Amino acid sequence: MSFPKAALLKSRPMMILAALAAIALAPLALSVSMPDPAEAQAQSQPAASEHGAAGGLEDHMKKMNRSFKTLKRASADGKLTKESAALVADMEAHALACKDLVPPMASKLKGDEQAAFVLGYKKKLIEAIGQMLQLEVALLEGKNAEAATLLTAINLTEKQGHEAYNKEE
Ligand code: HEM
Repeated sequence: MSFPKAALLKSRPMMILAALAAIALAPLALSVSMPDPAEAQAQSQPAASEHGAAGGLEDHMKKMNRSFKTLKRASADGKLTKESAALVADMEAHALACKDLVPPMASKLKGDEQAAFVLGYKKKLIEAIGQMLQLEVALLEGKNAEAATLLTAINLTEKQGHEAYNKEE
């Protein structure tokens, strides 16, 4: 024998149960559907005490450096291959993450100066990412001489970026 759903919900104890379940599950539904903007901000900018924490700027820079070093060594040894492009893709992913983080030096500035500093930082990383994308293409096409030139160009962009935005280095 089938029991209609509507009739089930119409019975008083079932209605109370349904209402209780809705109240109990509401916070869960909210947390799934609406990410807290303050939380997202905190994730993108680790607190000073967490400097160097996983997912922070320093962490991404270090990881990007590992792949960069391997690529520079391979280039110097004449061992760049099409597979080296995967290392560049790894660098790109870290550089993209860095682009949307705020360098610690920005906290020493305020207002318009701070905004200009953060914009300059972001643009420099975009420049580096552009060069990385060109490097990836060169490697995939087996153009290793071009790849070597691009590695030198990225090295220069890194140096400029560090001089302007990481003066403590
Ligand atoms: C291939 C490109 C790059 C590599 C391999 C690289 C690598 C690194 C390394 C190894 C560090 C030091 C992390 C540590 O403290 O041990 C660092 C820090 C830093 N880099 Fe880069 N970098 C690159 C490009 C850039 C660019 C283009 C900028 C600026 C637009 C930049 C800005 C910074 C800043 C601000 C820090 C300090 C991070 C912190 O202390 O939280 N880097 N980078």
